[in-house]
Amino acid sequence: MASPPLFPTFPDLKGKVALVMGIGQTKVPGSKIWGNGAATARALSSNGCKIFGCDINLSAAEFTATRLREEGGTCDVTTADVTSSASVKSVVDAVMAKYGRIDILINNVGMTRPGTPASISEEVWNQQLDLNLKSVYLACHHVLPIMEKQGSGAIVNNASIAGVAYLGKPQVAYSTAKAAIIHFTRVTAVMYADKGIRLNCVVPGMIYVPLVESLGRSEKEEDREVYRKITQHNVPMGRMGEPEDVANTALWLASRMSKYVTGQAIVVDGGLTSSTGTGWEGAKL
Ligand SMILES: NC(=O)c1ccc[n+]([C@@H]2O[C@H](COP(=O)([O-])OP(=O)(O)OC[C@H]3O[C@@H](n4cnc5c(N)ncnc54)[C@H](O)[C@@H]3O)[C@@H](O)[C@H]2O)c1
Repeated sequence: MASPPLFPTFPDLKGKVALVMGIGQTKVPGSKIWGNGAATARALSSNGCKIFGCDINLSAAEFTATRLREEGGTCDVTTADVTSSASVKSVVDAVMAKYGRIDILINNVGMTRPGTPASISEEVWNQQLDLNLKSVYLACHHVLPIMEKQGSGAIVNNASIAGVAYLGKPQVAYSTAKAAIIHFTRVTAVMYADKGIRLNCVVPGMIYVPLVESLGRSEKEEDREVYRKITQHNVPMGRMGEPEDVANTALWLASRMSKYVTGQAIVVDGGLTSSTGTGWEGAKL
């Protein structure tokens, strides 16, 4: 029996132009897994969207583009730094020069650095806020006027459950930025609700991405220790999520099937943030 398709089909997506910020993925060599942004691009591409992606790492972006083209998709990529307004504008200009419109924007770039308010340096704090939060503002800053002229558009921002709850490791700047993305999305969605533009967040939990896989394969004991910590989790479903779980949520939020949904943050975490993690199994109550 043929295995079921990875992604559902939403006919309204065919021919739509999707801009994916951070279309590459970390630690590519040898991995068959897709990163969250690359998997989202794949889901959109499999629905007939024309994909335009950017990444600070051009070879990572090209890796995704090649995979999409091998599956019959249309994908252009370019290099860009999402923390630079000029760089983001040049990507947006390139999409407009090629297609004259942007129907879907996926803000996927994000990366964590550890630290408490006492231990994190001001420099790293600023970098974290720029990479995780300012990047979302910049992409929206340049794309929203285009969507407003079109009278339509869907924006999906990739947040994290680190922006909803404490995950057991100090990453105060990342957590703050991800929480701010959720609120940025909520208030901006209201500002644009009567303009045909919807903004929503995907809020991933523990996802088994190539970076996680590479830690498990690393020769360094400290990496393998991080891998063990990540994979020994309290997820009520008993397993980590797959990038396709994130991608499927983003796909639905980009499609007309979610046409009455805006300003929302959809948590994709196997029940993790709904649980205190307290184990009472076997306890005599
Ligand atoms: N992996 C998880 O478990 C998890 C959980 C919750 C949230 N998320 C979020 O999902 C998103 C993607 O995560 P992932 O693990 O798939 O990431 P990833 O690192 O595999 O992919 C992100 C891409 O962004 C690119 N990038 C980094 N800095 C950039 C910059 N300044 N300009 C342009 N591109 C840049 C990287 O080169 C990379 O290709 C992030 O926002 C992350 O915070 C991930």
